[in-house]
Amino acid sequence: MNILIINGPNLNLLGRRDPAHYGSATMEEILDALRAEFPDDEIDYYQSNHEGDLIDRLHEAGYDPAADCDGIVLNAGGYTHTSVALADAVDAINLPVIEIHLSRVAAREPERRISLLSAACRGTIAGLGPAVYALGIRALHSIR
Ligand code: DQA
Repeated sequence: MNILIINGPNLNLLGRRDPAHYGSATMEEILDALRAEFPDDEIDYYQSNHEGDLIDRLHEAGYDPAADCDGIVLNAGGYTHTSVALADAVDAINLPVIEIHLSRVAAREPERRISLLSAACRGTIAGLGPAVYALGIRALHSIR
């Protein structure tokens, strides 16, 4: 499959940011492990700290034939809890999107227990550390 992983704000700091919640692996290390674990998949990666750029990337994946995307693993970071516009973009594209979170958001501050994205996504995986990226890919395989 052609899989796109999208990370939202502050996830460029993985490995350095709050390791108690997000672990010590960098995204480069996580991507290397994913590409080794799923050699038959094409795994594309995009990160932005900007809401509109994330929306543009979702539109591109959904509507640009050249993108040739089969599914998306999305960690929208803090926008998960605030962005109707990002939820609308997920809703607007005809691709399966798996929402993921490294930390167990349901057990954190009240504002993190609300996801505006979940209803627009095919499924949600949270709280298992960096393994959520691989589990997101497995989820896309299983609903293919
Ligand atoms: C996160 C959880 C969010 O609440 C937080 O804002 C993040 C990361 C996670 O992966 O656990 O940036 O999405």
